[in-house]
Amino acid sequence: MELIEFESKEKLCDYIKQKYVKALGAGREGACYLMPEGYVIKKLNDEYYESYIEKFDGIDIQSFVFAFGGIIVNEFVSALMLRYIDGSEIVKVNFEKYELELLKNALNILSKDIKELSARGIKAIDVYGRNILFDGKFFSLIDAQCYEFNSYPFLEGINIVVIMKEIYKNIFSKNMFATSFLLSSDLKDYLYDYYLLSHPGELIDGIKDEFYRKYREELNTLDDMKRVLRVK
Ligand SMILES: Nc1ncnc2c1ncn2[C@@H]1O[C@H](COP(=O)(O)OP(=O)(O)O)[C@@H](O)[C@H]1O
Ligand SMILES: [Mg+2]
Repeated sequence: MELIEFESKEKLCDYIKQKYVKALGAGREGACYLMPEGYVIKKLNDEYYESYIEKFDGIDIQSFVFAFGGIIVNEFVSALMLRYIDGSEIVKVNFEKYELELLKNALNILSKDIKELSARGIKAIDVYGRNILFDGKFFSLIDAQCYEFNSYPFLEGINIVVIMKEIYKNIFSKNMFATSFLLSSDLKDYLYDYYLLSHPGELIDGIKDEFYRKYREELNTLDDMKRVLRVK
């Protein structure tokens, strides 16, 4: 865990203001800035004890962005240092143009990482679309405030459902054709099933198979689905 000290909050604010490359966004807990060194400073609205960041120490799971460092002012944590993700919040991503195979791969990787998260005793509490970024290849979960850290392993199924549901909602429910296709298919009963959510690749394959069975057309993207269903 890297710790940097600043004399006062004013000095920290001046430092960020003078150096930041890009303001990335703000939420309830703080505001994020990309720094020239390539990492993110999240300036927190509140102050926390050092134990707040110690729990992130040694956690290295690709899909989850937990702080690798903190900025201390008067013995309290005032900002976090985070790995930068060059992506967009999934609520703003148009998933229709992406190859389903690419999404399948991304979901499989995330699913593997959620298993690791659970094994480490971390519980996702309040994961929603604005805290999940997609960079065109991978999903990354930001906002360390949305997790609870325990010393015993946590039920993998609950983490998977909480996170995957939010992602499926953003990939499929934003597309009217995909939503009605899914709801009219045999897959609808399984859509939020733990088994399928923990094997996301099988769900994507299921959608492709079902679509081919019904329309005799290969489905590579959700755009294809739109195109085929509109012309039929
Ligand atoms: N590591 C990061 N890489 C890129 N963008 C980020 C990163 N962390 C946060 N952001 C951007 O800043 C916004 C606010 O960050 P977040 O940690 O979610 O703050 P809050 O806890 O206040 O909601 C995010 O929605 C996202 O757009
Ligand atoms: Mg947030």
